[in-house]
Amino acid sequence: MARASWWVAFFLATFCYSGAQTLITDEEEAKQWLEQYNTMAEHYFYLSEEANWAYETDINDQNQQAQVQASLNKDKFKKEAYDNSTMFDVDSFTNETVKRLFSKIKNIGNAGLRDQSKLNRLTQLLADMKQVYSTGKVKDGDRDLVFEPDLVNELATGRDYDRLQFIWKGWRDAVGPTLRDMYKEYVTLKNEAIGELGYDDVGDYWRSWYETPTFEADLEALWQEVRPMYLELHAYVRRRLGEAYGKDKVGENDPIPAHLFGNMWSQQWNNIYDLVEPFSGKQRIDVTSAMVAKGWDAMRMFNESEQFFTSLGLIPMTPDFWRDSMIVRPADREVVCYASAWDFYNRRDFRIKMCTEVTQDDLQTVHHEMGHIEYFLQYKDQPVPFREGANPGFHEAVGDCLALSVSTPKHLKEIGLIDGTLQEDDEADINYLMKQALEKIAFLPFAYMMDQWRWKVFDGRITPDNMNQEWWKLRQQYQGIIPPVLRDEKDFDPGCKFHIPSDVPYIRYFVSFIVQFQFYEAMCDASDHTGPLYKCDFYRSPQAGQLLGDMLKLGSSRPWPEAMEAITGSRAMTARPLLKYFEPLTTWLRQNNTASGVRTGWSQFEPWASSATKEAGPALATTLFCVLCCLFVR
Ligand SMILES: *[C@@H]1O[C@H](CO)[C@@H](O)[C@H](O)[C@H]1NC(C)=O
Ligand SMILES: *[C@@H]1O[C@H](CO)[C@@H](O)[C@H](O)[C@H]1NC(C)=O
Ligand SMILES: *[C@@H]1O[C@H](CO)[C@@H](O)[C@H](O)[C@H]1NC(C)=O
Ligand SMILES: *[C@@H]1O[C@H](CO)[C@@H](O)[C@H](O)[C@H]1NC(C)=O
Repeated sequence: MARASWWVAFFLATFCYSGAQTLITDEEEAKQWLEQYNTMAEHYFYLSEEANWAYETDINDQNQQAQVQASLNKDKFKKEAYDNSTMFDVDSFTNETVKRLFSKIKNIGNAGLRDQSKLNRLTQLLADMKQVYSTGKVKDGDRDLVFEPDLVNELATGRDYDRLQFIWKGWRDAVGPTLRDMYKEYVTLKNEAIGELGYDDVGDYWRSWYETPTFEADLEALWQEVRPMYLELHAYVRRRLGEAYGKDKVGENDPIPAHLFGNMWSQQWNNIYDLVEPFSGKQRIDVTSAMVAKGWDAMRMFNESEQFFTSLGLIPMTPDFWRDSMIVRPADREVVCYASAWDFYNRRDFRIKMCTEVTQDDLQTVHHEMGHIEYFLQYKDQPVPFREGANPGFHEAVGDCLALSVSTPKHLKEIGLIDGTLQEDDEADINYLMKQALEKIAFLPFAYMMDQWRWKVFDGRITPDNMNQEWWKLRQQYQGIIPPVLRDEKDFDPGCKFHIPSDVPYIRYFVSFIVQFQFYEAMCDASDHTGPLYKCDFYRSPQAGQLLGDMLKLGSSRPWPEAMEAITGSRAMTARPLLKYFEPLTTWLRQNNTASGVRTGWSQFEPWASSATKEAGPALATTLFCVLCCLFVR
């Protein structure tokens, strides 16, 4: 008896001791653990990127399985590291860097899903959704049109209303309905994974990366600042499109049919510059034809881009980069064409994957992707958890900021894409700013609404049975566009944009399009630029390069306002440089719209209306909407 109670006491003591296990407060021990973590992270992240690269540059079942497996191995590592990290009493530590590393190691994303079979399912689903998107094709008679380059080129250059509509609808039919159910399952599983990390939902988690409690309100304030400019641009473009396609197709006070912007998602409108050019007969600032005429190819475009980076004293691309990147679409296999930049976490292997076409658009994209690589190169010696942008928007902004300089007529002349003497007068300037606005201003409401939609899907304000309708509500509300043909809930138009099936957050692009003008202004100042901001080309300015490099080196080791301060001297996001850049165009648009009797804004249509139903006006659309509702309720 006595012996038994002794044993009971022993077990109780052991149990209590292990339950109240003391946490490690030794900071040196924590640093050692972090070193070890870093070595392991480089290893698992490398293997996962390798497998992912192999799959995305050669889509087949075997590569898909290998990719899924490598991703699961990486998740297993992340989960284990997370668990191990809890043995440290991080709150008691004094070194801010150490504390920040621990907080980042806890950001394990999908790996938070404890149920292994669910994690397997989610990982497979992500690979499958990407595959559906990347291999989608539109049947056109006996031809199969692929997204890049076939559909992209037709939309960019086509001017036939019905043909454009065929392309627009064809792509949505090709991938939307298939993705719809997959996406619903993804939302459930992903929310469950993120919930286990203590976040309300996936949107809450994604927003947490910005470390800004007022993030949503700050974004709304930025949007309100730029919205008046967007409305002027929208109204002007609508009038010009009305002239091109007829007022019966593009109504004077209506949202604009979505397929007329030269872009599958109406996100950037620079491809229809020819239709909306303010002053005709000026020097060509669309240099696509010059690139073709001068025999440029993908390699030349990449070379030019690198040359720009090195002219600023920034780091050149590595030998591995040139050997292993995929810069044209291979003829013999399916690939994920959507352009991307890759960090393999071994500090020497960085690559771009892109199905480059010889166009000015793609020249911009090359700079954009190379901006990512430059960021990777600059922060490669940071610990793995800090090898990220100061926030995701910063990462997207680097190459774009340089491209603002590259796209100036002055620079295009310098690299031989504009011949003769440069035409410099107010009208030529307005033309240039229009081209830039079609790319930069038109994009803002799209970049803003994408994650407005997703945040609502993740937190339940949008339900699985009204995903498409809510999408079109937001498209109309922010962009002032309307589908050319009727949509319904069998369609899944959000899924037809790469980032949605690919699980890539989008608000980063909105942030990027604001902050890139802040970076640009700061670098222009550093290069002693004088005159209007939009004329600044900081090519060959080591001072501008130094400023940027100092910021890039930080990676995410400090909260982003400090990185912002390093480059601009102030800590906040602001639309002021963007508005300053476009000021002459804004004034011109306002005058031109007023003088032409054009009103800004648009009449409200029911979310299910299409431009095909709108000739009879909103009333018919409303009736139709109700009829459709009745049909669906059954
Ligand atoms: C976690 O700790 C265990 C036990 O010390 C160790 O074997 C394992 O390698 C650690 N894993 C990670 C990812 O830190
Ligand atoms: C914090 O730790 C890092 C990493 O070991 C070290 O480089 C840094 O100097 C430390 N900071 C302070 C203030 O001690
Ligand atoms: C507005 O711009 C268009 C296109 O450039 C031009 O034809 C028209 O004359 C302008 N209208 C006014 C009143 O400035
Ligand atoms: C690109 O640059 C490399 C090295 O600088 C050079 O060998 C190559 O000929 C260039 N290619 C083109 C198409 O300009």
